[in-house]
Amino acid sequence: MQTGNSALIQLIRSEIKNHGPQTFAWFMQQALYHPEHGYYSSGRCAIGRKGDYFTNVSVGPRFGQLLASQFSEIWERLGKMNDFVIVEQGAHDGQFARDVLEFVQKRFPEFFDALGYRIIEPFPILEERQRRMLDAFGDKVEWRESLEPFAGVHFSNELLDAMPVRLISDGTEKLVGLDGDKFVFVEQPVEKTKFNQAALESIDQIAANLQRGYVIAIDYGFLDEKLERTVQIRARHRNVGSTFEQIGYADITMSVDWRSIVERAQANGLRVAGFTDQHHFLTGIISLLASGDRGQSLPIDSRKAKRELQTLLHPEMLGRAFQVLALAKNVGPETNPLVGFKFAR
Ligand SMILES: C[S@@+](CC[C@H](N)C(=O)[O-])C[C@H]1O[C@@H](n2cnc3c(N)ncnc32)[C@H](O)[C@@H]1O
Repeated sequence: MQTGNSALIQLIRSEIKNHGPQTFAWFMQQALYHPEHGYYSSGRCAIGRKGDYFTNVSVGPRFGQLLASQFSEIWERLGKMNDFVIVEQGAHDGQFARDVLEFVQKRFPEFFDALGYRIIEPFPILEERQRRMLDAFGDKVEWRESLEPFAGVHFSNELLDAMPVRLISDGTEKLVGLDGDKFVFVEQPVEKTKFNQAALESIDQIAANLQRGYVIAIDYGFLDEKLERTVQIRARHRNVGSTFEQIGYADITMSVDWRSIVERAQANGLRVAGFTDQHHFLTGIISLLASGDRGQSLPIDSRKAKRELQTLLHPEMLGRAFQVLALAKNVGPETNPLVGFKFAR
């Protein structure tokens, strides 16, 4: 069965009729990012309780507050520079940016003064939502359609898993073809090629534009190349049964192959500054705040706040499902790891 946005389905069908079977990466690009009908680009995407899936950000403000503390430590390490930029890519409705900026303004005022926040947003409808969400911060926040040179930190949560992938396994590629009017997979031999080209190219761009500082990428993925890679399709908090259901109405993701991301980053002159699961990463940051080094502790004063933290940290919840990769460029050797990697294994 195939369901979804009928204009989008027509458009994909006619491309396959005219030009033959297409890669899954092309199909995913249309389903998520077709300028008019894509799940993200049309603004249909909905995250959180009333949407299609949860993310760290939609759990509540604690995630942004903890990351804000990590960013503050990075700013100190870089010598409290004046033109420090937090670049966020995949900012959705701007909630993470707001959580970070509100916390920094309150808890780290000196850092707040030195800070600029730049959102990389290719889709006007999402930029509009972000502008509304971040209205109170005026020109502290700026928008760009693509990356530009910066010093500071590049942050993303679940960006890499949303990048189009090809379905390649053991020298065979699954393409999207047609049986009558029905989408079907068609297998075909393929030369050795990267399945996650889009994610690798995004690392190239980040590396080319980061002049000095760190990259922090949080996502769900694996290190073992032999693990079978599966595509996840989610709508209304359920896995959609078939790849060709709810086209344009559902999210499509693929777990991140961290090893290839790291290799690509290193080939581009970035150094690995840490890799661990989210549980250990956030625990490291909490320990810094709790130690009072900064005289600031995290407000965990309500039951809601405790529940949020538990969801982010617990190994059976998001704590082990997500991993954190930090990359560094032109920051000199570190005697101590970033605070988030203090307990990294
Ligand atoms: C799974 S959502 C994550 C949203 C948010 N970071 C969160 O954690 O709630 C992925 C987001 O990445 C965005 N995205 C995908 N490719 C992008 C790109 N090249 N530049 C900027 N954003 C992109 C999508 O539009 C979408 O908003």
